[in-house]
Amino acid sequence: MAGVKRAFRYCLVAFLSAVTLSKRGSSSTPRAGLSYEDTIINKVLESYKMRTIYSRPVLNVTDSMTVQFAVQLTQIMGLNEQDQVLTLNIWDQIRWRDDQISWDRRANGDVKDVRIPCENIWTPDIKLHNYADLRLKEHRDALCIISHDGEVYHVPQVVYRSSCLIDVYVFPFDVQNCTLKFGSWTYNYDQLDLQFYENKSWIDLTEYIESSSWSVNNVPAYRHVKQYTSTSNWSRVELQYHLIFQRRSALYNYILILPCILLTTITLVLFFIPPESPAKMQLGLAIFIAFFVLLRLLEKNLPPGASQMPLLGTYYCLNMILITLSSFLNVLIVDLTTHGQRTTTPPKIRKFFFNYLARCLRMNDLVKPFVTVTPKSRTPKEDLGKIEEKTWTHEVDRSNEALFALQRDPTQCAGPMAEIEHKLGELREFMRQQKVRLDERDKKESIAKQWKAVALILDRIFFFVYLIIIFASLSYTLPVLTWSNTNYNTSLVRIARGI
Ligand SMILES: *[C@@H]1O[C@H](CO)[C@@H](O)[C@H](O)[C@H]1NC(C)=O
Ligand SMILES: *[C@@H]1O[C@H](CO)[C@@H](O)[C@H](O)[C@H]1NC(C)=O
Ligand SMILES: *[C@@H]1O[C@H](CO)[C@@H](O)[C@H](O)[C@H]1NC(C)=O
Ligand SMILES: *[C@@H]1O[C@H](CO)[C@@H](O)[C@H](O)[C@H]1NC(C)=O
Repeated sequence: MAGVKRAFRYCLVAFLSAVTLSKRGSSSTPRAGLSYEDTIINKVLESYKMRTIYSRPVLNVTDSMTVQFAVQLTQIMGLNEQDQVLTLNIWDQIRWRDDQISWDRRANGDVKDVRIPCENIWTPDIKLHNYADLRLKEHRDALCIISHDGEVYHVPQVVYRSSCLIDVYVFPFDVQNCTLKFGSWTYNYDQLDLQFYENKSWIDLTEYIESSSWSVNNVPAYRHVKQYTSTSNWSRVELQYHLIFQRRSALYNYILILPCILLTTITLVLFFIPPESPAKMQLGLAIFIAFFVLLRLLEKNLPPGASQMPLLGTYYCLNMILITLSSFLNVLIVDLTTHGQRTTTPPKIRKFFFNYLARCLRMNDLVKPFVTVTPKSRTPKEDLGKIEEKTWTHEVDRSNEALFALQRDPTQCAGPMAEIEHKLGELREFMRQQKVRLDERDKKESIAKQWKAVALILDRIFFFVYLIIIFASLSYTLPVLTWSNTNYNTSLVRIARGI
């Protein structure tokens, strides 16, 4: 009790002496047990007891207060793409002038400044306008530094969570542009004017700790005077800090880009597997699943319901579509190769595929057997058959002649000759049947080969179509992805880092 009383008495005395000090400006020594610092703090607290901490510390109510503000980024703590929330570790720097506080430095033992908890004095209500935070309080308490000339300097440590529109179109090479909007929540422009601290129109990076997943590209800041409604003069000052930062994509190069390139090359190899091999289908579906897994990996990093599909995802989807198509076409091709057992190739198809397409695709050697015959006559097969027939009968005639010659041979007797002739007749009949069968088989084989050639030509066409689509999409994708990487100016970052 006594202590409280004594403290109160000291305060009163200090206040009175301070008042007299400021009035007379003469020097004096503090009372026993009190330092100059105590005296000054007591004076400040006393003056606030009368004024309350809620009124602006200006002498004339029409005066505008100037508050200087800066943000010093220490760490990018994380970007939550799913919730579109950026978490930053920041030191705010706020400075204003309290007209009600000042003391003569020389008269008060050369005390330059004092530190007191900020709850005891007026503080500007500068808030992050675009906050996205569940916590009620975002900063740690820090003392206010009060200078002898009335300047108050406050540097709270703050973890800000701000909402930020995430653009993942060029993920994982994305550059994010997040804006922190600071301003007084209630005072308007006439009452509180917000300015950049020491004209620093950028985010201070002198204390910045490099992030392993983000690199800072640019940190410009702008001051806006915002008219809130058109009818009244209710306008507020807003400081907008743009933090433009870029994902470090080294990891994603290995888990998203490299597999994608490898899979694309394997897909190209797919076209060199013969169509009738089941391995082709299996490999195709395996690649399809691999792309799907990549798509899932990609999706994990995206905001749900992203308005824009990332380019890389579109590329994966394109590949999946192409592989599905190729599997369809593969079935078609296998079906074509088995066509040979049923029908011959229509002449139009033959002409188109073997004469034009084969030549374009440089597959002449594949279709040579079918093309060289064509110009001779309209029905080469039958001609060929006739010619063969003729030579065959000719041969038969010749063998008959030989037989007759043998018959005429006087050294041979008639009995065995008749038997031999009979056997030869059987043999001839057998040969003829065999020849017919062979002809039939050759014809079928030739037709099957023609169909297969058609199938191979189609396969080759799909290969080129695939190649063209892949190259076209890559030549669009790669520049877009890499352009965002390089297109920024680092001069401001160098200034902000104090280099
Ligand atoms: C406040 O300022 C206005 C205009 O600047 C002036 O007319 C008025 O007298 C001042 N009031 C006081 C109490 O100083
Ligand atoms: C970042 O966004 C702000 C507002 O959203 C815009 O004014 C600014 O130009 C953007 N900066 C860049 C580099 O895109
Ligand atoms: C800030 O800029 C103003 C005018 O542009 C200038 O008068 C003032 O000296 C500058 N302050 C600092 C700390 O550079
Ligand atoms: C707004 O302020 C301007 C001058 O600063 C004044 O001419 C105008 O009448 C004011 N309007 C309202 C609605 O107070």
